[in-house]
Amino acid sequence: MTLKGVVLCTIYLLSVTTCFYTTPQCARGCICSLNFTDCKYNHFEELPQGLDPNVTVLDLAYNEFKESPSQLRNYPTLVNLNLSHNQIQTLGARAFYNLRNLKLLDLTHNMLSNWGDIGSNAFASTKQLTFLDFSHNPLRSLPREKNPLHIPSLEILRLNNCSIENLNSKIIEKLPNLQELHLSENPIKFLQADFVSHSLKFLDLSRCNLQDISTTVFRNLSSLQTIYMQQNINLKKFYCDSPSLLYLDLSDCNLEIIPSGNLPNVYEANFHGNHFRMIPKFSFKNYTNLKMLDLSYNAISSIEENAFYGLDYIQRIDLSQNTLSDLNRDLFDTNRELKFLNMSRNYFSELENLISDSLEILDLSLCEIHSIDFDSLIDMPRLKILNLSKNIISLLPNDWQAGSLLSLDVSLCRIKNVNNRTFASMPSLRQVNLAGNRLTSAAPEAFGQVISIDISDNPWRCDCPSLKPLYQWLSKTGKRMDRLYCQSPEMHEGKPWLSACQKEWHPELTRNDSIWWYTTGLIVTVFVILFVILAMRRMYLLKEKRIREAEAARRTEERETLRRMQRVQAEAREEASRNAPDPRELQTPPSYNEALLLPRLDSSHPSLSGSLHSIVSKHSITGSNPDVSKRGRPRRKRRRRKSDSSEGQRASRVVVDSDTTSDPERPQPRTTLESDF
Ligand SMILES: *[C@@H]1O[C@H](CO)[C@@H](O)[C@H](O)[C@H]1NC(C)=O
Ligand SMILES: *[C@@H]1O[C@H](CO)[C@@H](O)[C@H](O)[C@H]1NC(C)=O
Ligand SMILES: *[C@@H]1O[C@H](CO)[C@@H](O)[C@H](O)[C@H]1NC(C)=O
Ligand SMILES: *[C@@H]1O[C@H](CO)[C@@H](O)[C@H](O)[C@H]1NC(C)=O
Ligand SMILES: *[C@@H]1O[C@H](CO)[C@@H](O)[C@H](O)[C@H]1NC(C)=O
Ligand SMILES: *[C@@H]1O[C@H](CO)[C@@H](O)[C@H](O)[C@H]1NC(C)=O
Ligand SMILES: *[C@@H]1O[C@H](CO)[C@@H](O)[C@H](O)[C@H]1NC(C)=O
Ligand SMILES: *[C@@H]1O[C@H](CO)[C@@H](O)[C@H](O)[C@H]1NC(C)=O
Ligand SMILES: *[C@@H]1O[C@H](CO)[C@@H](O)[C@H](O)[C@H]1NC(C)=O
Repeated sequence: MTLKGVVLCTIYLLSVTTCFYTTPQCARGCICSLNFTDCKYNHFEELPQGLDPNVTVLDLAYNEFKESPSQLRNYPTLVNLNLSHNQIQTLGARAFYNLRNLKLLDLTHNMLSNWGDIGSNAFASTKQLTFLDFSHNPLRSLPREKNPLHIPSLEILRLNNCSIENLNSKIIEKLPNLQELHLSENPIKFLQADFVSHSLKFLDLSRCNLQDISTTVFRNLSSLQTIYMQQNINLKKFYCDSPSLLYLDLSDCNLEIIPSGNLPNVYEANFHGNHFRMIPKFSFKNYTNLKMLDLSYNAISSIEENAFYGLDYIQRIDLSQNTLSDLNRDLFDTNRELKFLNMSRNYFSELENLISDSLEILDLSLCEIHSIDFDSLIDMPRLKILNLSKNIISLLPNDWQAGSLLSLDVSLCRIKNVNNRTFASMPSLRQVNLAGNRLTSAAPEAFGQVISIDISDNPWRCDCPSLKPLYQWLSKTGKRMDRLYCQSPEMHEGKPWLSACQKEWHPELTRNDSIWWYTTGLIVTVFVILFVILAMRRMYLLKEKRIREAEAARRTEERETLRRMQRVQAEAREEASRNAPDPRELQTPPSYNEALLLPRLDSSHPSLSGSLHSIVSKHSITGSNPDVSKRGRPRRKRRRRKSDSSEGQRASRVVVDSDTTSDPERPQPRTTLESDF
């Protein structure tokens, strides 16, 4: 017994110690994994007890810290500290003392409202800090004299939505390695600071309500590559000298003139959603390396000659959603790299014969174009993809010249006809979209070497013999055949091609098909009818069974009460016979003639059954009025007879059975009579 105890004890101790050593320590309310401790959504005001002393990632978001917890200094291994969504108002002088490995610090959504509440040495120990986020604190300004942000290692500083109204250049003075500065969503109206930084690459000033920007702001940011200034809805003009800049986003502002300045390295400029009305000549002369230019969703109605002059490397120009109605033919003549031009949603009435040796993709959808010349594409010898969808073209020219055109979208126009010569001068054409036009007929010869074609949603005339070649070509070459409906003649209106013309195109198939369909339909109908009948029968039987069961239950109950009554009656009679002579003994039996005149005994003679009730009521077992019980009996009988006639045979048998059993006293008078005789 002692041996057993020792063994058990050892096992217990072993398991406890292994447990202790294998699971990392985890504070209450926290979730710990390998090197990550998640203490979100507690009500901590102090650091919890029992944190892993070697913790590297600590998430304290959504707690109730009023200041940076002082015990943090006991965790010098911390690399990543999240203090967002707390109520921190001050950061003491030694707030992050000893956190010499800290790289990432999130202080977003706190209540820091004054740079003076941040100790000037708060970040003295964090010599590895690279990411610092103060976003969504009501700071209202940037530090001036006593700047606590003296962090040589810092690379990313976020100050989004901090209610900052004025910027000054001090903020980045002591951040020699800062690469990204985020100042989005601050109500900065005027930008005049002369920032100086040789490391800053990324500047976010989006949604800042900027109205005026001094021309020297970006001059001494020698490494600046990206400017985000979108959604400054009151910004009317922009000037910027920045030889290093690569990406400029000024979309959804209120610019009226093209941003200018010395911008020799910008490769992408986004001016979507501004208020340009006109593009003057030489507007982009200084954008010598621009590759992508977005001018969509403006109000441009005219573009001067040579407007895009100097854009020697431009590849994509987006002019969609403007109000252009005509263009100078040689507007893009000098842009020798231009491959993509989007002019969708403008107001051209004709397909302009633009000159461009390099253009490959041209989008002219939704432009109200109604006429096209056969030579409208000959000065774009490299054009591969042309989108003319949703225009009002009713006629495609014969011998339309486009040697390189591969894909043509003329869907949702009003084209009435394509003939043998329409695409005859487009030897490279492989893809045509003619969906949603007004074609009534077409010959397969019209489509040359087209591989992919869409002719759905046209008002086809199902004149079967003349439609047959097109149908055969489509089906033989495996082309799209869906949504091909007839509109005329009237007898075929709304029918799919195949069902309208099958009789003529596939007579043999039709007969077999119809027989097959007929027999299948018949079999299916028979099965359905059978199923319905079976289901109804089953339902009827179930219902019947339920009624029968209810009836039987009622009967047994009745029988029970009757038996009880009978017992009482018997007792009563016994008592009566003991106490008094049977009244029938006093009567003389009827003579033979009298007996013949007596009414024949019926199985349910009311006087007999009544006798039971009168006896029962005399003893008032049920405590009911004898008149009521006398009346109750025949009524019940009538109801029963009614149900007998409406129910099945079995039910009636049950009724009969219960009748014979429910009047068990009926033979009794006879036996008494017999015994009398
Ligand atoms: C945490 O551990 C994972 C896997 O062991 C590692 O990849 C990651 O770098 C660690 N994180 C820190 C901050 O040490
Ligand atoms: C913490 O790390 C040190 C050194 O890496 C190690 O000696 C110690 O056991 C670790 N402590 C825990 C609880 O993991
Ligand atoms: C800090 O926590 C908040 C809330 O969970 C989260 O949104 C944020 O991304 C975290 N910060 C970092 C840097 O992971
Ligand atoms: C910016 O902060 C204000 C309050 O300071 C808040 O109402 C607003 O929703 C914030 N904006 C965003 C986009 O978070
Ligand atoms: C800013 O740049 C301009 C010229 O680009 C130069 O004259 C000026 O000294 C620079 N300012 C600072 C503070 O470096
Ligand atoms: C183009 O840049 C030069 C300096 O390189 C500048 O003087 C001129 O004003 C700029 N032009 C435009 C239209 O911005
Ligand atoms: C052209 O611009 C329109 C409207 O901005 C856009 O919907 C369409 O996708 C663009 N076309 C291409 C080919 O990108
Ligand atoms: C052509 O333009 C229309 C309308 O903008 C668009 O729906 C369609 O997808 C475009 N077609 C091609 C092939 O890009
Ligand atoms: C189209 O060309 C075919 C032969 O290539 C010819 O039989 C047919 O008549 C032509 N149709 C028209 C309308 O020119």
